[in-house]
Amino acid sequence: MKIEIVETAPIEGQMPGTSGLRKKTRVFMEPKYLENFIQATFDAIGGGEGKTFVVGGDGRYFNTDAIQVIIKMAAGNGAAAVIVGQNGILSTPAASHLIRLNKADGGFILSASHNPGGIDEDFGVKYNAANGGPAPEGLTAKVFEATTSISHYKTIAADNVDLSRIGTTSHGGMSVQVVDPVSDYQNLMESLFDFGAIRALFADGFTMRFDAMHAVTGPYGSTILEDILGAPAGTVTNGIPLEDFGKGHPDPNPIWAKELMDLMMSDDAPDIGAASDGDGDRNMIVGRGVYVTPSDSLAILAANAHLAPAYADGLSGIARSMPTSAASDRVAAKLGIDAYETPTGWKFFGNLLDAGKVTICGEESAGTGSSHVREKDGLWAVLLWLNILAVRKQSVSEIVEDHWKTYGRDYYSRYDFEAVATDKANDMMQNLRGKFSQLAGQTFAGLTVTTADEFSYLDPVDGSVSDNQGLRIAFEGGGRAVFRLSGTGTQGATVRLYLEQYSGLNGDTNQDTQAALQSVRSAAFEISDMKAIIGRIEPDVIT
Ligand code: G1P
Ligand code: ZN
Repeated sequence: MKIEIVETAPIEGQMPGTSGLRKKTRVFMEPKYLENFIQATFDAIGGGEGKTFVVGGDGRYFNTDAIQVIIKMAAGNGAAAVIVGQNGILSTPAASHLIRLNKADGGFILSASHNPGGIDEDFGVKYNAANGGPAPEGLTAKVFEATTSISHYKTIAADNVDLSRIGTTSHGGMSVQVVDPVSDYQNLMESLFDFGAIRALFADGFTMRFDAMHAVTGPYGSTILEDILGAPAGTVTNGIPLEDFGKGHPDPNPIWAKELMDLMMSDDAPDIGAASDGDGDRNMIVGRGVYVTPSDSLAILAANAHLAPAYADGLSGIARSMPTSAASDRVAAKLGIDAYETPTGWKFFGNLLDAGKVTICGEESAGTGSSHVREKDGLWAVLLWLNILAVRKQSVSEIVEDHWKTYGRDYYSRYDFEAVATDKANDMMQNLRGKFSQLAGQTFAGLTVTTADEFSYLDPVDGSVSDNQGLRIAFEGGGRAVFRLSGTGTQGATVRLYLEQYSGLNGDTNQDTQAALQSVRSAAFEISDMKAIIGRIEPDVIT
């Protein structure tokens, strides 16, 4: 088939953020917008010649259109093969697994994660490398560089591929393999966990509600939880992926998964509630009457992972993103293994996982995962919880309380201030930065600052340095406040304020979270002058 070389010119703003390039869907639909970014990616990886790529997405509006464009461009760039999920569906962790399983050279994941979908909402493209993980910063910088000097892209003139039919066809000399999105992932989960024990748990009357939020985990949840593990039909709700996620916000947290939260706090609550996000990499865990913060969930999973077959020999280390609470560090200390603190974004875990330095990683933003893939994995976290519950034969709240009794509790909450004017958000950060050299020893809202610094990460594997990764202020008595600007927002700036207060060993672990964080919060507002500079201290979302 004839390769077409189409002329184009650079389009501004194609800079990948925390997790790929995210823009309004209509921006992606503009002529040549997607094509430019995809060609820049091929150019940045040294071309597509003879390579194999995995392609799939979370099913949001424009997913299959984008996939058809990418398939043709892969053929135009000389790729040998493309592996694509049936109907264009692949959860992010399943895509990561397929890249590794098939030893592909990389993959394109189409998703804006937990951001709403639809023609007036968000779309995104992320390139993952041969290890199955998000492109590291060095590569995303090259992609951006290529977008600024692009002059043409390569494609072929061909019909669309029938994405509904499983099987392999040839497309412009390139093989296109349409695969079942669930089956390889299901096999992987079965190899990690004691499915027999979890099956026995459900057979014993254990109850669950898994909210797929009309997003990609519907088919994965229904097959694995209901068909394979025997959870009763109806355990998975909102299980059909919709292009607009039912007009919802597919972000598994107490705000956006309110229906599930309400159920879990009611008398009719099942034994466990869980939810996953648009592309299936995030998770929320709720016990009957108890919400488990992602930071606590990471620590609890790490402390109990040895109860699942895949982790029976123990963990090599635990990594968390800097704004995530210190709860998992306490587990690492007790287990006598290394704890790593990385910048926000899963891409920073890749090197540590590849080098075998860590087995489990997590972020406060509802992301947990392990060395089984190179992405966070929502359903994996849910299955590990189920495996632990099946072995310990205790309730979620008993396990959580036992954890706090052993390690103390890290009270934790994140405040998001959305659509802040970008210049004001930058002013606030700059003003705060300017104060840092003077802060230690000063007292705010009764709390004395011990250290204040801007987080910079030295990757212990490849020696790369990532600067400007968040402003952190630590207080005497185990409190901490962190300020960062989001790298995934699509409108103005989103300021994130992360608050944390350690109870101390044998401290009070039964306080209300917001009450326990009151002093740290007041001190953070005072030090940052938020009210004066961005004009607000009322967050849009508290998680
Ligand atoms: C957010 C989360 C971060 C996560 C990312 C992708 O990024 O905070 O932990 O890795 O989404 O899911 P942010 O918008 O804060 O840059
Ligand atoms: Zn996601």
